[in-house]
Amino acid sequence: MRRVALLGSTGSIGTSALDVVRAHPGRLQVVALAAGRNRELLKAQCEAFRPACVSVGSKEDADWLRAALSHRPEIHWGAEGLLACALHPDADTVVAAIVGSAGLASTEAALRAGRRVCVANKESLVVGGALMHAAALAGGGELLPVDSEHAALHQLLDGRDRASLREVRITASGGPFREWPLARIQAATVEEALNHPTWKMGPKITIDSATLMNKGLEVIEASVLFGLTADQVGVTVHPQSQVHAMVGFADGSYQLQVCANDMRLPIQYCLLYPEQGPGPVAPYAWEEARTWTFEAPDLDRFPCLALAFDALRAGGTAPALLNASNEVAVAAFLEKRIGFWDIQACNRETLAALSPGPAGSLAEVLDADRAARRHAEGWVRTRA
Ligand SMILES: NC(=O)c1ccc[n+]([C@@H]2O[C@H](COP(=O)([O-])OP(=O)(O)OC[C@H]3O[C@@H](n4cnc5c(N)ncnc54)[C@H](OP(=O)(O)O)[C@@H]3O)[C@@H](O)[C@H]2O)c1
Repeated sequence: MRRVALLGSTGSIGTSALDVVRAHPGRLQVVALAAGRNRELLKAQCEAFRPACVSVGSKEDADWLRAALSHRPEIHWGAEGLLACALHPDADTVVAAIVGSAGLASTEAALRAGRRVCVANKESLVVGGALMHAAALAGGGELLPVDSEHAALHQLLDGRDRASLREVRITASGGPFREWPLARIQAATVEEALNHPTWKMGPKITIDSATLMNKGLEVIEASVLFGLTADQVGVTVHPQSQVHAMVGFADGSYQLQVCANDMRLPIQYCLLYPEQGPGPVAPYAWEEARTWTFEAPDLDRFPCLALAFDALRAGGTAPALLNASNEVAVAAFLEKRIGFWDIQACNRETLAALSPGPAGSLAEVLDADRAARRHAEGWVRTRA
């Protein structure tokens, strides 16, 4: 039985993870749930799963939950609450599904405490990848990627001799603007950018999918997870989102991982690994006629992807600078304070203005994160 602490339980990944738990009552049990502001949904989840430990964003909501619940779990709040859930002694597995760099400290702490951490929070790998590896090494923790492309790569590379590996490729749906001309992309509205063709996700990652910054963050994530250089990670646009990743070998051949585009599959892969089993998603329907297409990404129309490769090559805190700037720019776009094309401009400007330093400690990456946020917020103010 795996005992699961779920951080970000009220989000898109969090609710999918609870579906997976429901499908495996004999193998998975929820012992802790943490969320931000959606106290009504958290309350309903607590009533359904009866966790021993719960955390919510604010003290006020923690008090509300204490009064509203019909059972008496430990109730925490804020950043300390996330840590209390991640480190709860009954939990051996943590699903890190908080959005943004707010998820960094709890992911690191769980790895250092020897937990299996199923990481959806790609920002913690982009910002502090080396630190996450060091924490896992020091504490005996195990890091498994929930992102569908990286779970696919994990599956493809598992037990394989790396000497024959030439490159890996992750696929991108191309987002809602894949076929749009540059001028139309530049003027895209929030509503248009939130209209993702193949995945239903939280707002931040949906905007990142429209700019292809999500794929850029995933390139950095793949490099961190599998110890690959920027030249060994490629991106192929595949609008149907059925092939999630490919591994290329020295002889020029490839293996591909295929499954439905449903996040419950990679979540289940991580939670049950190395075992597998039937879950809430039907097997791939090969009897249906389908067309799969593949194309190269257009870096002129989607410059955020190129910026991510630049940051990966620059190394040190460059990915942290890019990630923080992007979080600020995407939030400002969602608030309609800046335009869609300003997101890439803000990120480009922040990377140009701030020099990356070493990323050897949590303090160093969090300093870089703060500096980039300050810079990007200043840039946004000049545009808004
Ligand atoms: N969605 C996907 O298909 C997908 C795929 C691959 C990777 N990911 C990654 O998974 C992560 C989560 O994405 P998502 O789409 O599930 O996001 P989401 O739907 O916006 O959910 C985010 C979750 O984090 C919680 N949260 C946010 N800030 C918090 C804080 N400071 N303290 C405590 N809880 C906080 C939210 O709580 P409240 O809602 O209660 O405020 C919510 O439960 C992201 O890093 C994303 O890049 C997502």
